[in-house]
Amino acid sequence: MKPPFRWVGGKRRFVKDIAIHFPSHMKTYAEPFAGSAAVMLELIDQGKLEPGAKIWLNDLSPVSDFWACVAHSGPVLDDMLGCLAGYHMIDPAQAFEIARQVCDAPTASERAAAFLVLNQLSFNGLFRRNRKGQFNVPRDRSKTLKDRERDLLDLAHVLADFDLQIGPAPGADRCKNYYMDPPYDGKTFTAYGAEPFGVDEQGLLAEACDQLVEAGARVVASNADTPRVRELYRGFTFYELKRGNQLSAKASTRKEQRGELLMVR
Ligand SMILES: C[S@@+](CC[C@H](N)C(=O)[O-])C[C@H]1O[C@@H](n2cnc3c(N)ncnc32)[C@H](O)[C@@H]1O
Repeated sequence: MKPPFRWVGGKRRFVKDIAIHFPSHMKTYAEPFAGSAAVMLELIDQGKLEPGAKIWLNDLSPVSDFWACVAHSGPVLDDMLGCLAGYHMIDPAQAFEIARQVCDAPTASERAAAFLVLNQLSFNGLFRRNRKGQFNVPRDRSKTLKDRERDLLDLAHVLADFDLQIGPAPGADRCKNYYMDPPYDGKTFTAYGAEPFGVDEQGLLAEACDQLVEAGARVVASNADTPRVRELYRGFTFYELKRGNQLSAKASTRKEQRGELLMVR
C-alpha cells in the first residue's frame, strides 16, 4: 500500500530492506515515529502483521491526528472527509491559507484535513513550524488538491482489521516488535515541528532501544549514518541503506548527502 501522504524522511523506497528484518508473523508492533507509516503498510501488505494484530502508531500532531482519523471507519473519519470536501470547493490559494490557520483547530478531524491540504500544497510536503508554533512553509503554486476520498476510505478499511492505537508505544511486556525512525541525528533544524529532536533525545531513544531489547523485544531503528549514531547503537547490527542518488557528481552537494543506517537487534 502506498503511504497516504508524502513525507520528509519517509521510508517508502526502503520498505523492503526494512521489512526483511521483522519476523513473518507478528501479533504486536509499534512505530513511535510513524510519519507516513510506510513500513507498517509494507508489513501489512506482506502479511507479516496479521489481522487482529495490536499496532501502536505515534507521532506529533497533526500527523497523529491523521492516523487517529483513519484508524477506524466512523464519525471522525467522516468528519475529516467532510472537511476535505470543503477545501475542494475553493481554489488552492484560499485552501492553503485556511488550512494554515486551522492546523491547530480544536478537533482532530479539522487538524487532519488541514494537514492533508498543507501536505499537498506546500513545498515538498514539508510541515514545519516557526518558534511560535505556526506553520511556515510556502505554498508550491504548481500543486493542486487531488481527491483523496477513495484512497482514504480504502486505507481505513484495511486498518479496520487491526487493533490500532494512536499514542505512545507500550513497553516490551505488551509489544514485541518496534520500528524506530526518529528525526535524523545532526539536523540543525527540525522539519517536523517546533520542538527539535536533539542530541539528548537521540541518546534517550538509543537507551530505550537497549532496554526494549533486554526485555525481549525486536528493535529495528534507522537514522543518519553519523559517528554518534554508530556509538549510541553499538550493540546493534548495522546495515547501510543505499539511495539511488546517493552519489552526487558535484563535490558541493556530495558533502550534504549523508548515508542512512539501519540498526537491528
Ligand atoms: C524520519 S521521520 C519518520 C518517517 C516514517 N518512517 C515514514 O516512513 O514516513 C521522523 C518522524 O518523527 C516525528 N517526530 C519528531 N519528533 C517527535 C517526537 N518528539 N515524538 C514523536 N514523533 C516525533 C516526525 O513528525 C516524523 O514524522
